[in-house]
Amino acid sequence: MKATFLTDTNTPLIVKEVETPRPTDNQVLVKLAYSSLNHRDVWIQKGQYAGPKAGLILGSDGFGSVVEIGRNVDSGWIGKAVIINPSHDWGDNPAAFGDQFKILGNPEPGTFAEYIAVDVKYIHEKPAHLTDIEASALPLAGITTYRALFTRAALKAGEQVLITGIGAGTALLALQYAVAAGAKVYVTSGSEEKIEKAKALGAIEGFNYKEENWFLKVKEATGGFDVVLDSASGKGFGNLIETAKPGGRIVFFGGTDGPIGNIIPNKVYWKNLSILGTTMGTLQEFKDMLAFTAEHKIKPIVDIVYPSLSDAQQAFDYMHEGKQFGKIVLTNG
Ligand SMILES: NC(=O)c1ccc[n+]([C@@H]2O[C@H](COP(=O)([O-])OP(=O)(O)OC[C@H]3O[C@@H](n4cnc5c(N)ncnc54)[C@H](OP(=O)(O)O)[C@@H]3O)[C@@H](O)[C@H]2O)c1
Repeated sequence: MKATFLTDTNTPLIVKEVETPRPTDNQVLVKLAYSSLNHRDVWIQKGQYAGPKAGLILGSDGFGSVVEIGRNVDSGWIGKAVIINPSHDWGDNPAAFGDQFKILGNPEPGTFAEYIAVDVKYIHEKPAHLTDIEASALPLAGITTYRALFTRAALKAGEQVLITGIGAGTALLALQYAVAAGAKVYVTSGSEEKIEKAKALGAIEGFNYKEENWFLKVKEATGGFDVVLDSASGKGFGNLIETAKPGGRIVFFGGTDGPIGNIIPNKVYWKNLSILGTTMGTLQEFKDMLAFTAEHKIKPIVDIVYPSLSDAQQAFDYMHEGKQFGKIVLTNG
C-alpha cells in the first residue's frame, strides 16, 4: 500500500510503498478514504514530541470502510463505514491514563496510508449526519474537547465560556459543543476574519489576543468566564486567569505558544480558580462524544481537503502557518 512516511525529523514527508497490514486477532483492516491532520503531527515532524521521532506513518484521524477482519471479530463489520478512536489503551482509571496509553500515529502506524489495522474496540460506525470528509475530521478533536468541556470543566448550560485561538481544529469543535450545551460562548483569535466566522457559528463576541491588554476589555464586556478552554499556553496564559470569574475553571490541553509564564499566585488562589490539564479521553468518553455529536448534528468545520496522500507535506506546511479555520483533510484513496 501507499503510505506517507516520516523518515526523519525536520525532513519532508515522502510517500512510499509499504507492506499492507493484515488484521490480527480482534483487529479489522480499514481501507481509509480520508484522514485529517492534528497539530501533533507537525510537532512530531519537527522533533518536538515525546516518543519515536522517525520511521513512522503519522496520522491519528481517519475514516474508511472495513475490508477484512481478524479472528474474534463479528463478520457484520465487513463493509461498514467507520471512524477510528485514536485514544488507545487508556487503562482503568478514568481520571488519568495509565502506562500503556498511546495515541494512534506514534508509535503505532497511523492513518496517513491506504489501509490501517486497528482493534475492533476502537472503530465506530460513522454518525449518519456526517459526510465522509467530516467524519475523518472528528475523532481526536472530538474526544479531546468533549472531555475538556464536559468531564474536566463540568460545563453547564447558561455558563459563560471563553475559547482561545478559535482557528484551531480543536477550538472550533469546542465552540460547537459549548453552543450545543447551552453555554454563552466567547472566543479569541489573532485574526478578525476568524472572529467573524466564529460568530456565524454561535459565538457571542470575539477578542484579538494580539491586541495589548485585550483581556481588560473582555472583563468589562462580559463580566468574566466560568470556563476558559485553551490550547496555546505560553506567556498569554496569565491573561486568561484575569478573565476567569471567581471559582472559574481553566481547562487546557496544548502548548502551541510554549511554556506557561507569568502566573501571579494570589490571582489563582484568591479567586479560588481550578486549572485543569486534560488529554484525549476514555473509551466511554469517545462513545459519549459520538452520541452528543449525533444528537446535536454537529459537523466539524473543514478548512481544506487535499486531493492525495502525496500532498501531505503541503498540508503540514499549511498547518504550521496557522492560517486555517478548522480541519485540514487528506484524501487517502
Ligand atoms: N493533549 C491533547 O490531548 C491534545 C489534543 C489535541 C490538540 N492538542 C494540542 O492543542 C493545540 C491545538 O491543536 P490543533 O490540532 O487544534 O491545532 P491547530 O488546528 O493547528 O491550531 C492552530 C491555532 O492555534 C491558535 N494559536 C496560535 N498561537 C496562539 C496564541 N498565542 N494564543 C491563542 N491561540 C493561538 C491559532 O488560532 P487563531 O488563528 O484563531 O489565532 C491557530 O489557528 C496544539 O498545541 C496541540 O498539540 C492537545
